[in-house]
Amino acid sequence: MSRHTDEFPPPSTGLHVAIIMDGNGRWAKERGLPRSLGHRAGVAALRRTVEGASGLGIERLTVFGFSTENWRRPPREVSELMGLLKTYFRSDIDRLEREGVRVRIVGRRTGLEPDILEIVERAESRTVNNHRFHLQVAFNYGGRADIVDAARAFALRVEQGRSQAHELTEELFESYLSTASAPAPDLIIRTSGEQRISNFLLWECAYAELVFQQVYWPDYGPEHLKAAIAEFQGRERRYGAVSGEPAAEDTILAAG
Ligand code: FPP
Repeated sequence: MSRHTDEFPPPSTGLHVAIIMDGNGRWAKERGLPRSLGHRAGVAALRRTVEGASGLGIERLTVFGFSTENWRRPPREVSELMGLLKTYFRSDIDRLEREGVRVRIVGRRTGLEPDILEIVERAESRTVNNHRFHLQVAFNYGGRADIVDAARAFALRVEQGRSQAHELTEELFESYLSTASAPAPDLIIRTSGEQRISNFLLWECAYAELVFQQVYWPDYGPEHLKAAIAEFQGRERRYGAVSGEPAAEDTILAAG
């Protein structure tokens, strides 16, 4: 459900990069392995990428871990993905907490098993005072579902007489999205060579630069992220205006 928050809009200094971690299944298939091993290798890639991100001037990373459409996969694969989320937070939360990473899960919480919810909420509350780096995991997330949930939440306020329809602005609407606590992504990366947005951050992607990389997610790491940022830096972000400064000049890139 939508989590309307007074934290919105948040201050921002570094880059927000979002990643569609695609290609786990094909990576496994090419090696004659079960898909589950592709997803497991995907968790290792996530660890490497989070580790390398802050050194590249990235302040916030949002990764697409499980979509509202992924429930259509075979039950065994769904349960494997749920298990990996649990294992990831169980095994990594101490380190993430120590390293100043704030963890947030975005997406629908309804429909998640109680043990997943507990782990997710614990990871969020343990890291609530961290500000060095933000890791957002989109889990049970769909861009359309998030927009519908936000619309319902605002409609409910109108129904209750607490708001009026004409008060709705883009800024107010955004504050009802599950991603409300973060600025929109500057850059969205999709791995594996597919060139689709697949219901990821539909509202938030309005002015994001898109970079598609050929590498399968399990092979991903900081060097690929660095290459994507270099491509992003060469883009001109105009936000609908006629000309502007290159993307590189409105962001901080600490890496050499
Ligand atoms: C897409 O690959 C990937 C996913 C649907 C899940 C991503 C999950 C992970 C990287 C592992 C665990 C995540 C967390 C948050 C701990 P695909 O299976 O669609 O690959 P394919 O297109 O090659 O079949």
